[in-house]
Amino acid sequence: MVRLSALGATALLASTAAANLITRECGEGLGKCPSNKPCCSQYGQCGIGAYCLGGCDPTWSTTVKSCMPAPQCQSKTYKFTDSRSSPILSNTKYLGDPSKADWVSDGQPLFANGVVYLTMAPDTVGTVLSSTRYVWYGKITARMRTSRGAGVVSAFIMMSDVKDEIDYEWVGVDLKTSQTNYYWNGIPDYTHSGNITVDQGNTYSDWHTYTIDWTPESITWSVNGQVGRVKKRSDTYNATSGNWEFPQTPSRVQLSLWPGGLASNGQGTIDWAGGPIKWDGEDVQKNGYYYAQVSEVTVECYNPPGGASGNGKTSYRYADLKAVNTSVILSNDRTDLASFLATGEDPEKEPAAPSSVTKTIISTDAAGKATTVIDTVAPTDTNVGTVPGLNGAGFDSGDLSGGRHNGGSGDANGASNGGTGGTGTNANKAGTTGWSQSDQSTAGGNNSSDAPRLFLLWGNLVAMLLVGAAMTTL
Ligand SMILES: *[C@@H]1O[C@H](CO)[C@@H](O)[C@H](O)[C@H]1NC(C)=O
Ligand SMILES: *[C@@H]1O[C@H](CO)[C@@H](O)[C@H](O)[C@H]1NC(C)=O
Ligand SMILES: *[C@@H]1O[C@H](CO)[C@@H](O)[C@H](O)[C@H]1NC(C)=O
Ligand SMILES: *[C@@H]1O[C@H](CO)[C@@H](O)[C@H](O)[C@H]1NC(C)=O
Ligand SMILES: *[C@@H]1O[C@H](CO)[C@@H](O)[C@H](O)[C@H]1NC(C)=O
Repeated sequence: MVRLSALGATALLASTAAANLITRECGEGLGKCPSNKPCCSQYGQCGIGAYCLGGCDPTWSTTVKSCMPAPQCQSKTYKFTDSRSSPILSNTKYLGDPSKADWVSDGQPLFANGVVYLTMAPDTVGTVLSSTRYVWYGKITARMRTSRGAGVVSAFIMMSDVKDEIDYEWVGVDLKTSQTNYYWNGIPDYTHSGNITVDQGNTYSDWHTYTIDWTPESITWSVNGQVGRVKKRSDTYNATSGNWEFPQTPSRVQLSLWPGGLASNGQGTIDWAGGPIKWDGEDVQKNGYYYAQVSEVTVECYNPPGGASGNGKTSYRYADLKAVNTSVILSNDRTDLASFLATGEDPEKEPAAPSSVTKTIISTDAAGKATTVIDTVAPTDTNVGTVPGLNGAGFDSGDLSGGRHNGGSGDANGASNGGTGGTGTNANKAGTTGWSQSDQSTAGGNNSSDAPRLFLLWGNLVAMLLVGAAMTTL
C-alpha cells in the first residue's frame, strides 16, 4: 500500500500546532528515522525514550518494533476533580506504564474548580492531554467547555499511531459550531468535515457533552446525547486502492488547545482558525492564558474486532506496515520502557551512570493531600532527543501531582540536567506555591468559570528556580 501523505491531517488541521514549529525528520517525503534514533513521533521527529511511546508511528520508525506496544483499552470514567482523580503525568515523566497515569501531558494543564484547564499562555503552543490507554473501537464522551477568540482552536480527537483520526474541533470565533472530521492514514483529504450546530448556549460558556461512538461499521458524533452526524464505513471504499478509508486502528483520546492562528502556520490554517491569534485577548488579560476546560471523559471500550490476530490482553502491537485493521495484534507484550534511553528494540536499556535511578516518592502534605512523585531516569549520555515536543523536550511541564520534582529529564538534545535531584520538600513547596493548583478553589465564588490566574507564569518561574536549586545541590 502506498501512503500518500502522513503530513496533512495532523500538521494542518488537527491536534497541536507543535507540528508547525518543529523540524520534521520522518514521514511522507522524508522517510524513516535512522537507527540511532529509531522512533518517529506523532509530529514527525526522530528520537528514543518517549518518542517510542504514544504517537510513535511504526510506518516511519526504523523497524516495526521500534515503537512500543500500546496499552489496551479499559473502560473508565475519568474525572478531574483534583490531581488524584485521573492522574496526569508530564511526557517528561511517563514511561509507558498506564497504571502510573491515565493521561500524559504536553504543555500546562491546571486543576481548579473541579475541572482540568488546558491552558495556552502567550507564545506557547498550548496543551495536549493524551490518554495513556488506546481504544480499538468504543464510545468516548468528553464533557467540556471550549476556549474562545480568533486563532484559538480547542479539540477532542481520537488519533492512532498510523494517523487514523476522528475529530471534534472548535474554532474560537464560532462558539455555535462543533466541527467534526475524520482522516484515514493521515491522508489530508479535507472533504470529510461536517458541522453540528450547538442549539443551546455556546461552546465556551456552557458545558456540553461530546460523544464519538466508533465501531468497525460507523462513526457517530453526538452532542448532549443527540446524534449530530453519522459516517458509515460502507461509504468509504476506494476501489482503486482496495482500501476502506475509514479509521480502523487503535487510537488515543486527545484533548487539546492550540494556536491555529499562529503566524508560522499555513494561511489556510490561520483562515480556518478565524485569523491571527491575539496574545492580548480577553481571557489572556484576565487570566494570563487562553483555556479550555474538561470536567469528565468516559471511555466505554468495545470488544476488539472478531477477526483480530492474537488474544493478548495487555497491548496492541503492529505486525506489518499496511497500517490497517489487520496490521494490529492483540498481544501481552510490555508497554513500558526502563528509562528514557530505551526503545522498542531495547526496552530494558538504562543509563550507565549508577546515579540515575527511578524513585517513587509518596508524601502527604499538611492538608492530607497525597502526592505521588515519580522520578524517572534522566538521560545522561546521549545526543538524541528523548521526549518529543517543541524544541524537543524543553522544559518539564510538571506532573500535576502536587509537586514539581526535578524540573525535567533533559532537553531537546538529550543533554542532561542531572534532573534526578530535588527533594520531597521542594516538590511540595512547588506544588503549593506554583501552578499546580489545589482542588478547592476559594477564590471567586463561581465554581464553574473562574480560571486560576497567572499561576502558570509563576509556576514556570518557581520551576526554573527549583531546577537551578536541584542542579546546584548535586
Ligand atoms: C463549518 O463551519 C465553519 C464555520 O465555523 C465553516 O467555515 C465551514 O465551512 C463549515 N463546514 C461545513 C462542512 O459546513
Ligand atoms: C483512492 O486510492 C488511489 C490510489 O491510492 C488514490 O490515488 C486516490 O486519491 C484515492 N481516492 C480517494 C477518493 O481517496
Ligand atoms: C478489517 O476490516 C475489514 C473491512 O471492514 C473486515 O472485513 C475485517 O473483518 C476487519 N478485520 C479486523 C481484524 O478487524
Ligand atoms: C458568577 O457567574 C454569574 C453568571 O455567569 C455572574 O453573573 C456573576 O457575576 C458571577 N459571580 C462572581 C462572583 O464572579
Ligand atoms: C457550583 O457547583 C455546584 C456543584 O457542581 C453547583 O450545584 C452550583 O450551581 C455551582 N455554583 C455556581 C455559582 O456555578
